[in-house]
Amino acid sequence: TDIEKGTYPHYMLKEIDEQPAVLRKIVQHYQDAHGNLAVDQEIVAQMLQADRIYIVACGTSSHAGWVGKQLLETLTHIPVEVHLSSEFGYNPPLLTEKPFFIFLSQSGETADSRQVLVQVKEWGYPTLTITNVQGSTLSREADYTMLLHAGPEIAVASTKAYTAQIAVLAVLAEVVGKSKGLPLTVDMQHELGIVANGMEMMIDDKEKIEQLASEFLAVSRNAFYIGRGLDYYASMEAALKLKEISYIQTEGFAAGELKHGTIALIEEGTPVIGMITQENVAGHTRGNIQEVASRGGHVMVIAMDGLNEAGDDFILPKTHPLLTTLNAMIPAQLLSYYASLHRGNDVDKPRNLAKSVTVE
Ligand code: G6P
Repeated sequence: TDIEKGTYPHYMLKEIDEQPAVLRKIVQHYQDAHGNLAVDQEIVAQMLQADRIYIVACGTSSHAGWVGKQLLETLTHIPVEVHLSSEFGYNPPLLTEKPFFIFLSQSGETADSRQVLVQVKEWGYPTLTITNVQGSTLSREADYTMLLHAGPEIAVASTKAYTAQIAVLAVLAEVVGKSKGLPLTVDMQHELGIVANGMEMMIDDKEKIEQLASEFLAVSRNAFYIGRGLDYYASMEAALKLKEISYIQTEGFAAGELKHGTIALIEEGTPVIGMITQENVAGHTRGNIQEVASRGGHVMVIAMDGLNEAGDDFILPKTHPLLTTLNAMIPAQLLSYYASLHRGNDVDKPRNLAKSVTVE
């Protein structure tokens, strides 16, 4: 069944491999009888009335939220704020007149997120939970639910739930934007299919990543991921993925912000992984990578086809610019998997962590 490892040594590896199938499943699930993308009409109607969307989440789900902000703002023109549940709970931001709340939670059980949901319901605002678990607390208590259809995620380090959250947010953004009649539309079914094919190619190319992980991440104490725009959001998640299972202290940084302090930490051999998938900032990130390399950092580059240069370590198949985070996460997840493995850690059950955190 779904929750057995089968021939896989770890759940994490199995769940990484499942991602192309999950994306295809999401596309299938969010279709109407005519094969067009579709979302519950009430959700769409509520969002069309909203003057701002508030995304509330923890951990990996909050990182999917940042990508969701970009997707929703670009495709629906509704402003979006992303908040950590544990911060929102006790220090809520000033809200607009017609807010719409989206709770992102793989488990649907995270206590910090639930606390905010209870509060928001008291205030009387509309709420949507995007979750992997049907019937979970956050799903039952919100007005609306959209499911991730990712199948059970067992490894503590979240992989397929992250990419599924982004895919569902992409579907939602496209459907809402279309019903608003906005000029920019994306054939999301087609584009997510291209992403899924790309993911498959990269998953088949694991040896390369394992090699990089064993060469550069086997002994380092710290590491950095850098990028701009969507590549910054991907960097935050890639860094969390690496630190939580390899125990290498890793930060995901906005590439342009490095020079304002953090570059002081770069020493001879410090691994720095640059993400380059966004054309408008590719040159700038290249510049930041140069700055790091000239200070002795060991630079690795993950670049999208078309933006790649000679010597880049990993080339991502070309996808729609709004969806590049999905493909970029495959090598990042695999790097953390192999780094953890080479360091002899318990990949699926890292120390001090729980799959779902039911205390505030
Ligand atoms: C825990 C998990 C993380 C997860 C976070 C939020 O800390 O270890 O992987 O991202 O909770 O969980 P949720 O189920 O709300 O997405």
